[in-house]
Amino acid sequence: MKWLIDDEGFQRENIEFFGSKYLLGNGYMGYRGTLEEYGKEQLCACTLAGIYDKNGDGWREPVNMPNPFLVRAKIDGTAVNVLEREPVFHRQWLDLYRGKFGRDTEFETPAGRCGIHTERFLSRERLQLMAMRYVIQGRPGAFVEAEVCLDREIWDINGPHLEQFSLHESEENEGSVRILTAKTVEEKREAAAGQLVVVESEGIYSEQGTLRGKMPESGAFCFCVYGWMEKDAGKAAVPVIEKELKKAADAGYEALCAESEAHWKRIWEDADVTIAGDKKMDRALRYSLYQLISSAPFHTDETAIPARGLSGQVYKGAMFWDTELFMLPFFRSALPEAAKNLVRYRIRTLGGAKRKAASHGFSGAFYAWESQDTGEEACTKYSFTDVFTGRPLRTYFGDKQIHISADVAYGIWKYYEATGDRELMLAGGLETMTECIRFLYDYSVFKENRNRFELHDVIGPDEYHERHNNDAYTNLLTKEMAGIMFRLWEELEEEYPDRIKELKERLFLPGAFEKLKRFAGLLYVPEPNEEGVIEQCDGYFALENVAIEDLLKRRLKDTEYLGGANGIASSTQVIKQADAVLATTLFPDRFSAQVRESNFRYYEPRTEHGSSLSACVYALGAIACGERKKAYEYLEKTAYIDLEGGYKLYVGGLYIGGVHTAANGGAWLVAVQGFAGIDTGESGIRVDPGLPEGWKSVTLTTHWRGRKVRLEVELNRVRAEAFPENTGEAVLYLFGEKKSLMPGAAVCVER
Ligand code: IFM
Repeated sequence: MKWLIDDEGFQRENIEFFGSKYLLGNGYMGYRGTLEEYGKEQLCACTLAGIYDKNGDGWREPVNMPNPFLVRAKIDGTAVNVLEREPVFHRQWLDLYRGKFGRDTEFETPAGRCGIHTERFLSRERLQLMAMRYVIQGRPGAFVEAEVCLDREIWDINGPHLEQFSLHESEENEGSVRILTAKTVEEKREAAAGQLVVVESEGIYSEQGTLRGKMPESGAFCFCVYGWMEKDAGKAAVPVIEKELKKAADAGYEALCAESEAHWKRIWEDADVTIAGDKKMDRALRYSLYQLISSAPFHTDETAIPARGLSGQVYKGAMFWDTELFMLPFFRSALPEAAKNLVRYRIRTLGGAKRKAASHGFSGAFYAWESQDTGEEACTKYSFTDVFTGRPLRTYFGDKQIHISADVAYGIWKYYEATGDRELMLAGGLETMTECIRFLYDYSVFKENRNRFELHDVIGPDEYHERHNNDAYTNLLTKEMAGIMFRLWEELEEEYPDRIKELKERLFLPGAFEKLKRFAGLLYVPEPNEEGVIEQCDGYFALENVAIEDLLKRRLKDTEYLGGANGIASSTQVIKQADAVLATTLFPDRFSAQVRESNFRYYEPRTEHGSSLSACVYALGAIACGERKKAYEYLEKTAYIDLEGGYKLYVGGLYIGGVHTAANGGAWLVAVQGFAGIDTGESGIRVDPGLPEGWKSVTLTTHWRGRKVRLEVELNRVRAEAFPENTGEAVLYLFGEKKSLMPGAAVCVER
């Protein structure tokens, strides 16, 4: 059961939510967990990763493809689908281990009791391929019809994104093939969706896309549908897709399923985390990891993981700082090859970040707040609507959340620290970090009277307060990253003097390196006050201190935006999500336990958690304060978000539903880094657990500098085993005690 998610009973009110909850994804595409009879009104979507389109004044967003799995069935002329007939039984399920979705639905009809049983998966081996088996059960001899469509009525937020459709149809030995080619509106990129329907039962004939025939004696009318999505289809794509579909049909549903499952199995060997003693959280964490894995591009660096994964077009299918801060930690530890693609995505889009900086009048790299395929800024100036006037509301996320460049640098550094991947640092990693710091330097102002650099007119992670000076998180992260960047220049120079010399000459005019060094040294970071609290930004302490419940009573509409120029939170101390607390969490060694606690206690009651990124940071903060129960409650909020729903669907008129990949990564952060106390750094793997009540152990595989280690963590005992295939020693600090493990060796340490 630990791999199974399911819901019983048809829940019309949850159609939208289940579409995300039951999502399938293989990094190339996502297919929402909708039922086969659904269309665009039920938010059915097959979203491709890395291909975007803009139609007119609408936003540039990912392209949703025609749906090859639309099926509407009838028995003796009676429709058997949940949109037209209330089922007497319904269950839908998701097998996390195999990456498979299924449903079982039964209806009472004039032709007797009948059922629809389907299952489907997106292949992890053949990334463009999706396959479904569809079984109609009923009285033998009843007349069955199944209309199988390649549905081009597509759910889009700002579409349509495909035009100039062209349909190719053929009847093959294997079954009937349909291929729709189309062009995107903006760039005229050709995309194609193919479908091959293969009948498995005897006596069924196909007529213009509808399968007809008498229910066989077995009482089961079966067929398979194979779909093929191509995001880079030239004209040659039609025969290629046709060939691939036939190859798939020749292999057959079971064999395709088995090869995809074998791939999932290999991923899970490294990725799974088991929490013994807490079944509910164990499953929720696994589900969170399933969502991350489903959206991760294991095959390419052309894209990273969007804020809503591959569950649709929300947030423009864009990558945010969510990747570096909330998702990369899991991938670094469990699946470093996938982590590498996420980091390379930033290196690959450095050009876009430099163009953004230049367009704002700065040098260096100002990463897109919302980044798509090229790294150009996708964040719109008017993301929200004033719900009172209906007018667009100006927000400055893209212009002022400069911390994104420090976040990108942070992601590269942490990846390097855990993997020791020098090649990546020399092939763009160090350059990208440097361009990020160069931008932040250029953005800063030097205050002669204070002899320090400051960062003015910014937005920190707390987006409710726009355009303030010296945001605690932004300044601290920038300063830390600038210092670390110089350390890396030195370290790499020692090892690769020629390559570093060449890089330095290419990147710096005479004197420029020293100017950056001065910035690193003189950048101001707000320090804790006498009570140990760091002021979130200049002037924050002087803002109105109002309780969140009282502030929320001032709302005139539930969906009004609380931040920005007119938002009711802007003039108060109520913040959207962790800012200073996040800063103290990222650099725990920089602050005393008392300072960390003071910040947690001060900011927690002031945080409205208006972002799904917030709860996991407060969980980590609570752990640092020894508040394990409170931390656990925050973990529940994070880990159950996509399983139990109840999250905000609209903010300022903007639809923001879908899966929450940052929270999914946050669940791993809290369980593994927080409770199990596992952290990989330059010197090795540290384990210092503080498990919550009920947890007997946390078991997982972690990677450190090319070595793989199996860890079994209990509150007072840690067992570590190095994999025999490791090529060198794995260094661990178990309850502070240093242990070096040769390949195949194991050790057990008690507290
Ligand atoms: O990156 C976040 C941001 O911090 C808060 N709003 C949603 C974004 C995407 O998750």
